[in-house]
Amino acid sequence: MNQSLKSFFTHLECTYCGQKFDKTIVNRLCGICGKVLFAKYDLLSAAQFINPEIIKNRAPNMWRYFEVMPVIDQQYVVSLGEGFTPILNCTDLGEEIGIKDLLIKDEGLNPTASFKARGLSAAVSKAKELGITSITMPSAGNAAGAMSSYAARAGIKSYVFMPKDAPFANKEEAIMTGATVELIDGLISDAGVISREKAQQNNWFDVSTLQEPYRVEGKKTMGYEIAEQMNWEIPDVIIYPTGGGTGIVGIWKAFDEMEQMGWIGPERPRMYAVQAEGCAPIVRAFLNNDEFAEPWVNANTYASGIRVPSAIGDYLILEALRKSNGGALSVSDQEMKNMTKVISELEGIFVCPEGAATAVALEKLVSTHQIKSDDQVLLLNTGSGLKYLEYK
Ligand SMILES: Cc1ncc(COP(=O)(O)O)c(C=O)c1O
Ligand SMILES: [Zn+2]
Repeated sequence: MNQSLKSFFTHLECTYCGQKFDKTIVNRLCGICGKVLFAKYDLLSAAQFINPEIIKNRAPNMWRYFEVMPVIDQQYVVSLGEGFTPILNCTDLGEEIGIKDLLIKDEGLNPTASFKARGLSAAVSKAKELGITSITMPSAGNAAGAMSSYAARAGIKSYVFMPKDAPFANKEEAIMTGATVELIDGLISDAGVISREKAQQNNWFDVSTLQEPYRVEGKKTMGYEIAEQMNWEIPDVIIYPTGGGTGIVGIWKAFDEMEQMGWIGPERPRMYAVQAEGCAPIVRAFLNNDEFAEPWVNANTYASGIRVPSAIGDYLILEALRKSNGGALSVSDQEMKNMTKVISELEGIFVCPEGAATAVALEKLVSTHQIKSDDQVLLLNTGSGLKYLEYK
């Protein structure tokens, strides 16, 4: 990125009570109601400045959408080349499942081998711009490796609190890239409590997902890319493995922003969240018609990225699923393991368990006729199977 770019980021706004917050100071959750803050942009002005034709010629990474990203001065962008991952036609897998037009967006090709690179590139860049020097987070795995890698590149000190049974690759990655790693005898929610306490004691900035406003801005670029890479046409269905929900919420936000800029129309994909049978708080809340999700007790699945017993953005995830006429369903660990082998063999994509979960969900949605054979379906493989080698 060498030409000088202008961000149209205007302010932060609470997704629940609508209160506005100053973009130039450090913010986490809404100071009034404690809910999630979203970055807001002057999209009408942005649309005068950029359009799909201009973006087309930019470097193939997520910062090609700089005008609708929260960093104000380009010099603070901390990048390892994240984003613009391929959308692959999966004809053989589609035939196996009964879908004529099946696509997988392979997020395993990101730096640090998962889509977490996007959120952390955005959050670490913004932290750098705000002058933050130490960051912390609880992580079930992939986010830790991404945070410590981007923090290393930014010259920011990082601290990670991770369940001790997180994948080996994630622990190693965080340690190698210089994070101080503490392994916790518990779940990500337990790690979250410790991370928050330590953040307060030591004046570190806690970048827990959706508890700071910028990771979702990185993840929303998946939505921009899906539209751009599909020639500004939107698939009929998107299936996403949902933990904290930042991915699904971000993609949904992107569609809204693109419509306001006139890049797409009012059409939306049906959004489906898939969770593990051993940890499915969003599925339960969706089926109960609840606005919020009760925390899941005794969360258990080898798919560590979706072993998230409670999500602060639960109401945002549920809203996206409902407004899009999509849904939520869970799959078993054994089904994920079997599907990992099927996808790897048929398509040559060594998916992570969470990515495999989306194909299992698709199979179920086809068998219950919620998805038809001529629906165009896009699955998100959120990470590489190479990060989970100990779980055969
Ligand atoms: C590979 C993988 N897939 C999916 C998720 C869940 O993502 P989100 O928090 O956006 O719901 C994670 C989170 O750790 C992950 O690592
Ligand atoms: Zn609020």
